Amino acid sequence: MTQVIQVDPDQPDAQAIAQAAAIIHKGGLVAFPTETVYGLGADAMSEQAVRRIFAAKGRPADNPLIVHISNRAMLDLVAADVSDQAEALIDRYWPGPLTLVLKRKPEVAASVSAGLPTVAVRMPNNPIALALIRAAATPIAAPSANRSGRPSPTSAAHVLADLAGRIEMILDGGATNIGIESTVLDMTGRVPVILRPGWITEEQIAAVVGAVERAASLQELQRSPGTRYRHYSPRARVVLVEQATLDLLERMCNEYLKSETVGFIGHTPPAIDDEKFRALILRNEPADYAARLYAALREMDEGGASVIVIEGIADAGEGAAVMDRLRRAASETIRD
Ligand code: TXA
Ligand code: MG
Repeated sequence: MTQVIQVDPDQPDAQAIAQAAAIIHKGGLVAFPTETVYGLGADAMSEQAVRRIFAAKGRPADNPLIVHISNRAMLDLVAADVSDQAEALIDRYWPGPLTLVLKRKPEVAASVSAGLPTVAVRMPNNPIALALIRAAATPIAAPSANRSGRPSPTSAAHVLADLAGRIEMILDGGATNIGIESTVLDMTGRVPVILRPGWITEEQIAAVVGAVERAASLQELQRSPGTRYRHYSPRARVVLVEQATLDLLERMCNEYLKSETVGFIGHTPPAIDDEKFRALILRNEPADYAARLYAALREMDEGGASVIVIEGIADAGEGAAVMDRLRRAASETIRD
């Protein structure tokens, strides 16, 4: 049985948090909200507990987890050799959606790092998450709380849909604010490398550390094993139109409608009236796409869409993180 407890993010109930912390202590699994997406937490220092995360998610063992901490002192339990550059980023962006890959301490459960000599760490900006980590008094390893290969959960209902009966508890703090996962930044080389774009942008990182690179080569991506897997995918096939016109979108949707049930997610509403067509219209802004994308993909799946047409947005600033997730979800991309 998975227990779901509603918690007010503005004033997390101490008793609910204590109950959740007790589960973490016993080596159990608790899903909790962060500012990005829901995480599936276990004691990061317990190998047995961390292994349960992989089993519950069906996650490949070679894909490492992010460790969540509630204060700067906790970082020293899991990471070594924190550079001045890393400290500057921590001062500026923690708590927040920035994950730093650092040299790992041997006390961290081995499977957290999936055999790598590094550990990914962040301090989430959500009062429920911070209260849970504080009460558990241990760093908490937490990947996104979805079954492997499914879109990340942005609500407790999404977590329950994927993990009911597989985890002990869900702390329901309502919908997450940002809606897509944190930026993952490798701090172990000479120049910081963005392994996964996120809400903290390349420009924001460069403003603190100067030069920053984007992982482009396959070799670099080997360092963030998660990015090798197909991610963020609904069951329906996703066709991404990077720069759409109304005319192109309408022609595409009408063509698919000859033989399929079609979902549309975008900011240019096609004028189509058909029982087999559903449209979800977003604002042409990264924040609206990020906040609603994963829920939209799940809804379209449940509505029985066999193909989902998604209209892209400008690939700049926060839009770069949104476009990264759209490209990963897509099985086909149309560029003009
Ligand atoms: O916003 C987020 O980051 C959410 C919330 C729950 O914090 N978490 C999340 O975790 O998205 P997950 O497991 O779904 O994604 C973790 C990413 C993967 O791409 C993984 O490969 C990468 O971080 N990662 C973890 N440890 C790493 C390491 N030591 N070196 C390189 N990449 C690492
Ligand atoms: Mg994930």
